[in-house]
Amino acid sequence: MVATSATARDGWSSRTAFVLAAIGSAVGLGNLWRFPAEAGQNGGGAFVLFYIICVIFIGLPVLLSETLIGRHGQASAPESMRRMAAESGASARWDFLANIGVLSAFMIVSFYCVVGGWVVYYIYVFGVDLMASGLTGGAFEGRSREEIEAILPGLFGSAQLMLTGHIIFFVVTIFFVMRGVSAGIEWVATWLMPTFFVLLIGITLYGLTTGAGAEAFAYLFTFDFSKLTPQVMLAAVGQAFFSLSLGVAGMITYGSYASRDVNLGYTSGIIAGADTAVALISGLCVFPIVFAAMAAGVGDLSVEAGPGLMFASLPVGFQAMPFGSLIGLAFFIMVGFAALTSSVGLLEVPTSWVIERFGLSRAASTLIVGLSAGALGLLSALSFNELADVRPLGFIPIFAEANIFDALDGVTAKIFMPLGAILTCIFVGWVAEPRLVDAENGLSGTLNQVWRALVRYVCPVVLLVIMGFGLFG
Ligand code: PHE
Repeated sequence: MVATSATARDGWSSRTAFVLAAIGSAVGLGNLWRFPAEAGQNGGGAFVLFYIICVIFIGLPVLLSETLIGRHGQASAPESMRRMAAESGASARWDFLANIGVLSAFMIVSFYCVVGGWVVYYIYVFGVDLMASGLTGGAFEGRSREEIEAILPGLFGSAQLMLTGHIIFFVVTIFFVMRGVSAGIEWVATWLMPTFFVLLIGITLYGLTTGAGAEAFAYLFTFDFSKLTPQVMLAAVGQAFFSLSLGVAGMITYGSYASRDVNLGYTSGIIAGADTAVALISGLCVFPIVFAAMAAGVGDLSVEAGPGLMFASLPVGFQAMPFGSLIGLAFFIMVGFAALTSSVGLLEVPTSWVIERFGLSRAASTLIVGLSAGALGLLSALSFNELADVRPLGFIPIFAEANIFDALDGVTAKIFMPLGAILTCIFVGWVAEPRLVDAENGLSGTLNQVWRALVRYVCPVVLLVIMGFGLFG
């Protein structure tokens, strides 16, 4: 049926569509690129274990809190907050919380699409290489390790390449958000997510059997508690939020398109479980290939390579593999799919806000928001070359060394997202009428009590402590 009323709201066409779209938003560069990089930089196993604890005891309760606010409100994130606040007799000003989220989503999408641009470039590089090296050969045949490792700095050093990749990825993201919830975002998720899973499992199995699987297991799952500093804990919390798309009102927005027959408690478990599984699998995908290349004496590769892990170390690993060129291409296409299902989710947050706030059409709103976020993203793209010396947050010790890109990433993951989550917990746990919450959360009995206790006490207190020590300790 065609929607006749101007106020009719688009929404997910089915329960499965909601789950897939939410998983699509959660699973992205956060799992594939950020998780292995953060694990490598924060000491491996201890970080991983603490990250998993954060997902279960903080991420999952917050995820449920966000989706239930959205579904109750059936409107953009700020409007949903206002509605729930009003019905609970609280101040409508609570919408500021969602506004912070809208702002963070705007900031994140700006630099997220920069990394999306690197993926575009690597798809191009591997595509060209596949034609040169042939189907069965390793990637970059005849080229030295130095040459392969030079691809990433080569990209970073070129403002032109960085901007081109960034713009391409942004345009694709804008295109799908413009098409709307069911025709755009849902379409991307239902087609790309299953393809993504098949590719991920295939490449991981290949890497595990031909690469250094045992070392990777040991690295990711051996816990050395002396490595668990407050900074590592804050990094793990930030990673959990980033990966689950929390604290940016994104899951409020996605929840608002969910119909009444969705059990949000159960669905949140599935979303968090799938997201965490993908993070762990991508660790098991990236590290065996890197460890195998290290063992083969392929230069001074390091698991601490950080952001370069996926883009610099992994391509060297692909050289050592039969079918490396093809697998490399498949890998980056897969990363591109996952990134797209997240970037549309990010852009949707400020877009749906503009649609509602200013009564503009979806097309106009997407363009306005997309182009402004794209413009902000240019600064991030240039922070690898022309603007490399700019330190926007030089006055905050833990961000003293951060360029524009790292500052946006650090501030959103380590301050805005946890702060948004603390306030969400206070809102759902203390401010909102329990009757409204219970009608939405799909939980009963002990599980409901445990969830309530986590939201009221555990999450806000633990988050405050970790933020305090992580930032100032
Ligand atoms: N969770 C996404 C990822 O892991 C990133 C994201 C954050 C998407 C916030 C939407 C909202 O890549």
